[in-house]
Amino acid sequence: MAESKLVIEGGHPLRGELTVQGAKNSVLPLLSAAVLCDGDIVLERCPALSDVYAASRILTHLGCRCRLTQGRMEIRNTGITCTEIPETMMHEMRSSITFLGPLLSRSGSCTLYLPGGCELGPRPIDMHLHALRQMGAEIHESHGMLQVQGRLRGAELHLPFPSVGATENIILAAVLARGQTRIHNAAREPEIRDLADFLNACGARVSGAGTDTVFVQGVDRLQGCTYRVMPDRIAAATYLAAAAATGGSVCVQDCCPGDLTAVTEVFRQMGCRVYSHENRIYLQSSLPLHAAPYIRTMPHPGFPTDAQALLMAAHCKARGSCMFEETIFDSRYRHADDLIRMGADIRLSGRAAVVHGVQRLSGTTVHATDLRGGAALLIAGLSAEGITELTELSHLDRGYENPEHVLRSLGAKIERIT
Ligand code: UD1
Repeated sequence: MAESKLVIEGGHPLRGELTVQGAKNSVLPLLSAAVLCDGDIVLERCPALSDVYAASRILTHLGCRCRLTQGRMEIRNTGITCTEIPETMMHEMRSSITFLGPLLSRSGSCTLYLPGGCELGPRPIDMHLHALRQMGAEIHESHGMLQVQGRLRGAELHLPFPSVGATENIILAAVLARGQTRIHNAAREPEIRDLADFLNACGARVSGAGTDTVFVQGVDRLQGCTYRVMPDRIAAATYLAAAAATGGSVCVQDCCPGDLTAVTEVFRQMGCRVYSHENRIYLQSSLPLHAAPYIRTMPHPGFPTDAQALLMAAHCKARGSCMFEETIFDSRYRHADDLIRMGADIRLSGRAAVVHGVQRLSGTTVHATDLRGGAALLIAGLSAEGITELTELSHLDRGYENPEHVLRSLGAKIERIT
């Protein structure tokens, strides 16, 4: 495929309303859950993202029929006909590992491959495997191949860290397992709640999702349903950060303000006015922004690691200094180099980064190195003087549905050139 780039003319404040896309991090485990359900599933507000297409290719390979048209994903599961996911498909996206729990639970044996490390550093899956072993899985690992078998039974599980993916994989493995499963120290991210709501709509019995203890009572079968995917809180945070950084004012519609309080609190500290009403968030910014003193990423309800790069970009021209501490991933400051090339003053030291606000950023050619890092460079480009060219868009397209269209509707000058 020809390499595309986004060409951004900076300096235009974003103004207007936008409706946020469905959540990438929710729809991916919902697609894995389709393995467990008999009949037809319809996912409304399904975003058209490369990761969603990668998951639907896996489902098709396993024997389901998938069709995505205008935000509506239709899946027909008349029986899983294959229990191996090829290595190339597993490598397309890290979250392919959430197929492990449901595929094993549904078929009693399966072969998958380790999804491998990624641009955020090593991403082990030891917690996923340990939990499945406690549920009765026999797992043979060799040269990146996972051969797994066993009839799953409920278990009492304690996670050493509230991993989002491990919590999802366990829930997906437990809904059709014999007996009861309790997950202690479960992740509390809103996407876990969305997964449980979807599974319960299909006939599962999951309670406590969104708290640190999730309880699953196994059932015999699940039936497909029609379900509306939750709004994407990180996409919402991205457009809010772009509005803040450009001195604009936007209203994000159809979002869940309660899922974003750690982020909106930072915008307030930066001097933005932020109001939320029902499912809308309004943000009004006037430049210059003021630096929030300290942003530490934490599991939900703390400040999300996925919003760290976005807020770093919004801080580049803020008055004062902000210290970031990244506690979730090892290698999550790769966007900093290109922000520095645009004129930002950022000092990195291990898991810490300090941003000293500068008067101006200037446009240049920058490269997305990961999904949210790419979004950070987009935000910086919108607030920079002159033209920014953002390349390596495959990272951005994993998580943002037509971002140039959304940004243009808010007054940005941005074009995608292939
Ligand atoms: C999910 C999100 C991702 C987000 C992250 C943290 C999806 C598709 N992705 O990723 O956008 O940044 O949550 O909110 O939903 N870990 C282990 N062993 C394991 C599992 C995880 O050591 O078995 C470590 C990871 O390396 C990482 C930390 O735990 O350092 C958090 O990972 P986890 O919560 O599992 O993130 P993901 O589910 O991969």
